[in-house]
Amino acid sequence: MSINYTDRIPNNVDLGSNRTLQRALEHWQPEFLKWWEDLGPKDFQVADVYLRTATSVDAKGWATYGYVRMPEYRWGIFLNQRDPNRRIGFGDNYGQEVWQQIPGEYRAILRRLIVTQGDTEPASVEQQRMLGHTAPSPYDLRNLFQVNVEEGRHLWAMVYLLHAYFGRDGREEAEELLERHSGDADKPRILGTFNEPIRDWLSFFMFTYFTDRDGKFQLKSLAESSFDPLARTCQFMLTEEAHHMFVGDTGISRVVKRTLEVMKELNSDDPQAIRNAGAIDLPTVQKYLNFWFTSSLDLFGSETSSNAASYFANGLKGRPDEAQYEDHVVLDQTYVLELPDGSGNTKTEEIPLRNAMNEVTRGSYVRDCDRGVNRWNRLIEKAGYSFRLTLPSTRFRRNIGNWAGVPTTPEGVPISAEQLAAHLNQWLPNESDRAFILSLMNGVHQQGKMAAWIAPPDRGINNNPVDYEYVKLH
Ligand SMILES: [Fe+2]
Ligand SMILES: [Fe+2]
Repeated sequence: MSINYTDRIPNNVDLGSNRTLQRALEHWQPEFLKWWEDLGPKDFQVADVYLRTATSVDAKGWATYGYVRMPEYRWGIFLNQRDPNRRIGFGDNYGQEVWQQIPGEYRAILRRLIVTQGDTEPASVEQQRMLGHTAPSPYDLRNLFQVNVEEGRHLWAMVYLLHAYFGRDGREEAEELLERHSGDADKPRILGTFNEPIRDWLSFFMFTYFTDRDGKFQLKSLAESSFDPLARTCQFMLTEEAHHMFVGDTGISRVVKRTLEVMKELNSDDPQAIRNAGAIDLPTVQKYLNFWFTSSLDLFGSETSSNAASYFANGLKGRPDEAQYEDHVVLDQTYVLELPDGSGNTKTEEIPLRNAMNEVTRGSYVRDCDRGVNRWNRLIEKAGYSFRLTLPSTRFRRNIGNWAGVPTTPEGVPISAEQLAAHLNQWLPNESDRAFILSLMNGVHQQGKMAAWIAPPDRGINNNPVDYEYVKLH
């Protein structure tokens, strides 16, 4: 399973043995590169960036580090090693052999799942393309570009599946993945969150913490798939994805840390005084958290979903970490939902567990999100302040599912539309919050320097110092 780097497209799928497929992908490659030049990170394409490149799918030592100009990054196709004994892990076909080819009846659904996943990868690169200019340090600039090139590679992962298993339809979908663009009025990206522009680094850190984490849970679900090549490609993507969430997690930690330093210097928790000192007050951090967390919650879909039930029944998409459950068929289990009753209160409804799979996955996601929040709160607590960051309720500010459009407080208590309107300024970033955050976004590209609104990281990348020359600008 070693990676072949002599081919034009690096791969560990023996691409050279399938000339037709290889040619089709080599034809798509220049289109991808054109997309990268047009919509990838703006103005940094000639910089030498200290990046990691996947060179093995072995869990230990899978990447090598070195300076690369981003357009020369070796985007490739890497699947985890095939386990010849792997069996279907859930649903109606539990225990049967996994599929190396797609059963005809699932072709359309699987294509849709792969396209939806694939669409998010280039979308995030497009959303983040202006951020290089405002990076708080060369270390952060490098991390941004690392995330960007790997999202580009994730697009390759999905395009490979489309080309290899879906014939002409797949090739057309691969073209369209480069034709839809984030925020485009005519051809937007498929999912809402991926059309939100990311203009500042607080949003970038929130995005990599909350939205990349949605990606993690989608990939975990697909890593359980009975369609073995999809499962294996997602398993490897998860290896890369961990760094993206690390960027978000440590980014927010560093913002909080810097704010606490300023609070201590000023001996004040007055938001305006903190802002005047050039740091981000904690209530503003909370508002950005509210925005990106709730936006990411919608990505899991409706609480009740017959699609989710059939994905599970058919073995297409499992629960994250399916092995942790005892019952993998779940024909008789139920799930109790708390839903709005339409008159300002809540009611409970018991539904078959299979229909609640989106909610099960969302629940795992929320628990995972909470870990970082607890870490950030420990910093605040240690500094002696009573403020706490909290995840809002999964009912708050939803646009999809039973709670879509239902006005609630961040704690999930139903309120009137007027009450919501009156408080939105306090619960979500408002115009002046956004203007303030943007006012801090002055790029720091000098080696060894760091913007004043964020603390330096505890350590650098790949055992290098924090002030290492992570990006060589020309
Ligand atoms: Fe990704
Ligand atoms: Fe990611």
